[in-house]
Amino acid sequence: MSRENAIIIGSDHAALELKEKIKKFLLDKGVSVEDAGTHSPASVNYADYAKKVAGAVSRGEFPRGILLCGTGLGMSMAANRFSNVRAALCSDVFSVKMSRLHNDANILVLGGRILGDILAFELVQTWLDTEFEGGRHLDRIESLDRN
Ligand code: RB5
Repeated sequence: MSRENAIIIGSDHAALELKEKIKKFLLDKGVSVEDAGTHSPASVNYADYAKKVAGAVSRGEFPRGILLCGTGLGMSMAANRFSNVRAALCSDVFSVKMSRLHNDANILVLGGRILGDILAFELVQTWLDTEFEGGRHLDRIESLDRN
């Protein structure tokens, strides 16, 4: 699979169903998807899947990723520990749009126990369609990895 525009996606058990639906939504649109798991409803540690997805984005193996857990909180905490990762936990369209325009968010984090399917698809679509504005925001995001 060419990873140039592919999306790596991962979830824990609490958001498995929504992950599967988002995966289908993306595949139906012709977007390549790498599924990092989880693949069953058995209880797992969200951090293990955050590490797979955020690690791959951090190393530049995938340009973008999507992470889901029950609330999205654990996934966003875990993902944002990785350098070069800007994971945005969003549940509204405006925040998703701004996460791309101003923050160049390279991981979208969603809460499977928070969102309905239709809203989740709209958030994903908005995130895919919105480009980073650059300009003054570039210095700001570059400073994130400097202590
Ligand atoms: C799992 O029960 C739940 O804690 C997890 O999905 C997530 O919401 C953690 O932040």
